[in-house]
Amino acid sequence: MVSRRWFPTPREQLVFVVITVVLALSLWTSHRIHWKTRLGTGGWSLTSRRHATSDVFNSTLGFERVFAIGLPERSDKRDALTLMAALTGFKLSWINGVAGESVPNKALPFGWDRPAMPETNLGSWRGHINAMRHIVASGLTSALVMEDDMDWDTHLKSQLSDFASAATSLQEGFYHNQSLASPSPYGQHWDMLWIGSCATTFDEHLPLDLQLPEDQQDSRKMLIANDVTVPPGTHITGNASFSWTEYAPQTRIVYVPGDNICSFAYALSAAGARKALQYMGLEGQHKAFDNHLSDLCRLRVNGMRCVSVVPSLFVHHRPRGRVSRDSDISGGDGSKDDVREVGFTENVLYSTRLNLQNLVRGMEPERQWED
Ligand SMILES: *[C@@H]1O[C@H](CO)[C@@H](O)[C@H](O)[C@H]1NC(C)=O
Ligand SMILES: *[C@@H]1O[C@H](CO)[C@@H](O)[C@H](O)[C@H]1NC(C)=O
Ligand SMILES: *[C@@H]1O[C@H](CO)[C@@H](O)[C@H](O)[C@H]1NC(C)=O
Repeated sequence: MVSRRWFPTPREQLVFVVITVVLALSLWTSHRIHWKTRLGTGGWSLTSRRHATSDVFNSTLGFERVFAIGLPERSDKRDALTLMAALTGFKLSWINGVAGESVPNKALPFGWDRPAMPETNLGSWRGHINAMRHIVASGLTSALVMEDDMDWDTHLKSQLSDFASAATSLQEGFYHNQSLASPSPYGQHWDMLWIGSCATTFDEHLPLDLQLPEDQQDSRKMLIANDVTVPPGTHITGNASFSWTEYAPQTRIVYVPGDNICSFAYALSAAGARKALQYMGLEGQHKAFDNHLSDLCRLRVNGMRCVSVVPSLFVHHRPRGRVSRDSDISGGDGSKDDVREVGFTENVLYSTRLNLQNLVRGMEPERQWED
């Protein structure tokens, strides 16, 4: 047999050159987008193009549904949240909040001290449990649940995309023995993603016997670097057990939570919703809902696997106007007291709520703080 050395024909040479040029161009473009995203300030449209294929960018933020819990009569909060979600590119479904007084004594959770606890705390608990029950009853694969006074960054989808990558890597290190039944862009090994809280501690700040097993401890924290939507350090609040000076500026931390306060926003997987409903709904209840939710994570009740992020991606907004209108859990009836002249949201740099007028006019969002 005679073997013949191969020489490319002119036509083959041309194909080779074209392929090389196309490859080089696409590499250069993706590099440029990456660079712009990381260093530029207005890079959000570039970021969304980079990740646009991920389900995180779909109309329910990569979950099957997005729920907001709110009392039906707080039409003011529904107006704001509806407009904010539309301008960020996602759809909300409402779950009616519950007045504590409407829960009869017979339906009280075991251990609830009705005379000692505010009725509004009972109502808050019932509203969240109704959301959990809805997820379980409808057989949803996952859902994000938020309270109705939330605010978030105008770059929410790209933030969630970075969070999804970090959370997926983090989960590789712990509880990978149980996979979710349906694929999630946020990883395959989570029960709860607690992405809106007002104060937090890390797993390593828990007593030793409550921390993750030693072979999983290396993976309990992932850092997202050069996040241009992280506020300047002087404007970050809510560190209960660590100092921001230990981290480079523009760092966001994705981690296994120790103790969280405030149930601003959390996602549940199908398995997570069942575990949560069992413990939060049926095992008795004697404290505020968010403290109880924190127990669920910290004590890893029912094998609960929680992932958090700080600075939080969802934070309650403090609107311009009468201060007592803020909360339906604490505060007065909204009729007489101090007036806040300028609204604000802690920890959210490009506040969607404060930029509503800019956004409806098609203008660029502004930061709350320059430095
Ligand atoms: C968004 O993505 C999630 C996760 O893949 C999926 O469950 C959900 O159905 C998607 N939403 C829409 C509206 O397609
Ligand atoms: C998975 O691992 C955790 C921690 O090692 C353990 O507590 C749990 O029982 C395991 N679950 C299954 C289904 O094997
Ligand atoms: C929280 O951060 C501030 C500002 O960096 C710092 O002064 C304070 O000590 C921190 N709190 C704790 C508990 O580390």
